[in-house]
Amino acid sequence: MIRYNKNTRLLVLDNKSIGYVVYVNDAGYLETLYFGKHLAGYSDFSCVRNNGVYASPYYDVARGEERTYADGFKTDAVPLEVSPHGLSDKRGAPVIARGKEGGFETDLRFRSLRRMKGAPAIEGLPHAHGDCETADVLLEDKNLRLRAHLYLTIFPDKDILIKSFCLENGGKRPLRLTRAMSMQLDLPRADYDLVHFYGRWAKERDYCCAPVTDGVQEISSNYGRSSAEENPFVFLKERTATMDRGEVIGFNLIYSGNFKFRTRVGTYGGLHILYGINDEDFEWKLGAGEKFYTPQAVIAYSDAGVDAMSQTFHRFIRENLMTYAANRDYKPVLFNSWEGCYFDFDTDLILSYIDDACKLGTELFVLDDGWFGARNSDAAGLGDWTVNEKKIDLKRIITHCTAHKIKFGIWFEPEMVNPDSDLFRAHPEYTLGWGRNELSVSRHQFHLDFSNPEVVENVYRQMRAFLKEYPVDYIKWDYNRTVAEHVSAAYPADRQGEIYHRLVLGFYSLLGRLTREFPKVMFEGCASGGGRFDMGVLYYCPQIWCSDESDPAQRIDIQFNTSLGYPLSAIGAHVNDSPVASYATKAALALFGTYGYEMNPGKLGKEEIDTLDKMADVYRKYHRDVIEDGTLYHLRAPYEGNTMCMQCVSHDRTTSLVLFMNKLKEMDVYRFVRLRGLDARKRYRNTLDGQVHTGEYYEKIGLNFSTTWMSEFTHGLVLLTQEK
Ligand code: GLA
Repeated sequence: MIRYNKNTRLLVLDNKSIGYVVYVNDAGYLETLYFGKHLAGYSDFSCVRNNGVYASPYYDVARGEERTYADGFKTDAVPLEVSPHGLSDKRGAPVIARGKEGGFETDLRFRSLRRMKGAPAIEGLPHAHGDCETADVLLEDKNLRLRAHLYLTIFPDKDILIKSFCLENGGKRPLRLTRAMSMQLDLPRADYDLVHFYGRWAKERDYCCAPVTDGVQEISSNYGRSSAEENPFVFLKERTATMDRGEVIGFNLIYSGNFKFRTRVGTYGGLHILYGINDEDFEWKLGAGEKFYTPQAVIAYSDAGVDAMSQTFHRFIRENLMTYAANRDYKPVLFNSWEGCYFDFDTDLILSYIDDACKLGTELFVLDDGWFGARNSDAAGLGDWTVNEKKIDLKRIITHCTAHKIKFGIWFEPEMVNPDSDLFRAHPEYTLGWGRNELSVSRHQFHLDFSNPEVVENVYRQMRAFLKEYPVDYIKWDYNRTVAEHVSAAYPADRQGEIYHRLVLGFYSLLGRLTREFPKVMFEGCASGGGRFDMGVLYYCPQIWCSDESDPAQRIDIQFNTSLGYPLSAIGAHVNDSPVASYATKAALALFGTYGYEMNPGKLGKEEIDTLDKMADVYRKYHRDVIEDGTLYHLRAPYEGNTMCMQCVSHDRTTSLVLFMNKLKEMDVYRFVRLRGLDARKRYRNTLDGQVHTGEYYEKIGLNFSTTWMSEFTHGLVLLTQEK
């Protein structure tokens, strides 16, 4: 899978379906010769190398003469793994370091290479694992005494390439990293569309597609979290690519903080991509002998359209990223108290909620915000993680769940503090930005200084004490504001550029510690809905609350778009009280996620209870094999028209679920939706019209969704089962 030929200086990484080729040139730069489908042979790259562009001259100071690189290397035109900085290549370097002289030149050149089994363990950061192989390419800047391990990881069974760096100060004086991104990828062509997912609270991950333009484009977050405004998942697609055809290259970062994905169409053609931690306000002091690990950038390659890329990401996330021991198990039907009663509850109300929720097939009851400290509104209590015993009897609530044979879960927001809290009164200096005359508040709360290990330790002790006393099965980990005043009293002036990243490290250290110590507790991520929906969180949490907007008017898009990069099993989806659609429609949508409820269950009529309970049965029966472990196909994109259609096919291809939805009314329409992923020769009965057809029929002709009339937000949920 990984080969390096010392004579030809070609490094090849490949599996049965993809290939990646790097050449170590005379000057010691790594030229990226090929990334794409697997090739039968990897020796004939002479034309790629000698592409007609003239070689760059350089002046050899020791010899006192002008020379050109022996192998015709043109420094700013040739695709590279790591561009230098401060030299003639202006495309952009992934790593910039400053030494004792304060200069910016960073020139990393090849030293040696070794192969290793598995993926590198990235200290303090979530990372990929499993059956894979890594090329550890050592580069060095001799002046700076900076060593950079470029890790390239490939899997035998997935069209994935992972890139990251470990930067090591081999000198005696500190270095200052002013950019430490995870990867550079230079592609020979730039005629792609760039797809990214921008948004805001309650409208996360809108699909945005536009041609890669000349010059520089940037998709990034500087909110301190991966953010609702942009998601680290982006992809390039050939202009003509569709869901099932064409070249698509997907990117994601195993990271939850500020990121930057930057494209630059080079003066000499080609597309230059940098991806990693956002370098805005970033600076890291790297002491002698110290190491800095960048997050891993994950690249998925497809020559068969968008769906093949998204399926690759789904499998990678479930098999090579998530660490929750039971992540491959069935996820319980969840009832969350938030939208039902917000802060306004007492023990009796929650007990009645539990009784009513059980009629809907609930298997996990979650008490959301409002159970701790003096928390009766969002103005107080964050930071005080002890039960508000005046308000509720938590033990009684848990016992009640146990009596109903259901699990119990609870809400935390560990990284935050209200000024009106005991924690803040005792430790105002735990607040990020403390010392300023004015601090920004958002939702009446401050961000705790999670760059300070003492603060993390304080919250850890509180949460640990809680978990030891109350046997909960689940924690919803919320994060309801973005970072402002990213300055920490715990660090000197020359280390303030580290704070954004250290906040993320603090978050991972607490979440990592708790998930390791309480491996049976399932943690669900959340951040004002879907404001931190990323691969970093998914390493610890098998699911993430996708958005505070459950109304199908927005949800259809949010869930569909999220599922282009993330598996359905990770997408928290609840049925709520939204009047836009029927309970059956809302439930069908939630079924294509981790199904749950969020409403006042006492207000439901008998018919609604029956509908939801039946849907919970469908979820129980099919979620594991068809939705979680199955293959997802995006048949109709809501951003392209009035309808949305997704299909899941079980691994053994015996069962499939199809969800069809419309937004606006539609009159009589003649419409067949072609399915995918079925066995062409097998026969399947469908529950739409009860007919039996072959897989080939469904693929070539389709499922008959012709209608006489559709009002707003209706749905068709169709089960296909193979005939014996
Ligand atoms: C955030 C979450 C909601 C809920 C509230 C509680 O907005 O996204 O689901 O938990 O916080 O305050």
